[in-house]
Order: sequence, then structure tokens, then C-alpha cells
Amino acid sequence: MTVTTNSPAAPSTTDRLALRRSPQPDALVAPGPDAQEIDRLVEIALRVPDHGRLSPWRLILIAGDAKEKWVGRLMELADAREDAAKVRVSTRKLSSAPLVVVVVSAATPGHKVPEWEQWLSAGAVCMNVLNGAHAMGYGANWLTGWHAYDGQATALLDLADGEKVAGVILVGSVAEEAAPRPRAAAADVARWLTL
Ligand SMILES: Cc1cc2nc3c(=O)[nH]c(=O)nc-3n(C[C@H](O)[C@H](O)[C@H](O)COP(=O)(O)O)c2cc1C
Repeated sequence: MTVTTNSPAAPSTTDRLALRRSPQPDALVAPGPDAQEIDRLVEIALRVPDHGRLSPWRLILIAGDAKEKWVGRLMELADAREDAAKVRVSTRKLSSAPLVVVVVSAATPGHKVPEWEQWLSAGAVCMNVLNGAHAMGYGANWLTGWHAYDGQATALLDLADGEKVAGVILVGSVAEEAAPRPRAAAADVARWLTL
């Protein structure tokens, strides 16, 4: 087996994971991943724990013309809402990134694997998209927004009854890194069990 070491110029995988940060939506720009990289990103996304092997999620990839039309249709829906000014701002966040990965939770209710666990698996898909994109040298930001909950907006994605949007994940090249943000202190949220 060949063991490779990371040069100082190439941060290790653990360093990269420890430093991952979501860029601002408008800092995610073209070029996005190419077709081969998108295939790889999807492969990484789907490599998640999945109790009962139910595949309780699916992905919708949005780019190019379809993305332009999707954002345009969302803007029309936004305009018709009472809170139009506010939701237009959150819709505009979808404009810049060249690729949007919508992670849909397609949990089976009443299964012996609780729905909660199936939802968590969809969350794991979202996190893998973030870490996968980051590992490939791109940035990603996990959003939901009004369009993840509004019935007319989710109809544009052809969601089946009971399906939920777990994440609307923007992926692209990083035009500007986001400033570090305060993080929970390990000592406050992680402890050893002592009995
Ligand atoms: C389920 C979920 C939904 C989110 N939805 C939004 C959103 O709609 N709008 C937003 O500005 N941030 C949203 N966020 C937060 C962004 O992902 C945020 O940029 C991120 O938490 C920044 O932290 P990071 O740098 O550690 O990734 C959401 C996060 C999660 C986990």
C-alpha cells in the first residue's frame, strides 16, 4: 500500500473538514462542478447511513436554463405573496450559484424504522453534499427558505404527497470566503459520560 502524506500546501482532509464554512449565497459563482464532478458529488451525497436501506431521500439537480426558469417562477410566486418584499430577498439568494441540489426527504410513515431516523438520513445527505463540494474545492450553502415549504413552490419540484424539502443546497466556486463565525465550544456541548 502506498501511503501519501499531505504537503503543507494541501490541507489534510481533517483540516478541511474542521475549517469548512458556508460561503454567502452570492459568493457562490460559476464555474460550478462539471458533469463528471456532479456525478461524483451525487455518489458522495448518497453514501449515507440509511437504517433499513429505505433510501428515504432523492435529489433534484437544477442548473442552466432550468435553474433560470425555476428562479423566475419562484419570483412570480413571491410577488403574489403578502410578504413579497421579504421572500424576494430569499429567492434572490438562489440566483448566483450555478448548481442547486435539492435534497428531498421521502420518508415512509408507519415503517418500523421511525420517520425521525429517515429524516436524519436525508439530513446526512445534505451534509455530504456540503462536505463533498468542499472536498472538491467548491463551496456550498444549505438553505431551505419559503420555497421549501410553500405548496405552490414545492409543486414546481413535483414533490409527492408526504415528501419534504430537506435542503436547497447552493453549490459553486467560492468568490469570497465567509468570515469565521462563532462556534459552539466543545466543552459546552460535548462531555464524557461518567457513571
Ligand atoms: C436545515 C437548514 C436550513 C437552513 N436554511 C437557511 C435559510 O433558509 N436561509 C439562511 O440564510 N440560512 C439557512 N441555513 C443556515 C445556512 O446553512 C448557514 O449559512 C450556515 O449554517 C452557516 O454555517 P456554516 O458556515 O457552519 O455552514 C440553514 C441551515 C440548515 C441546517
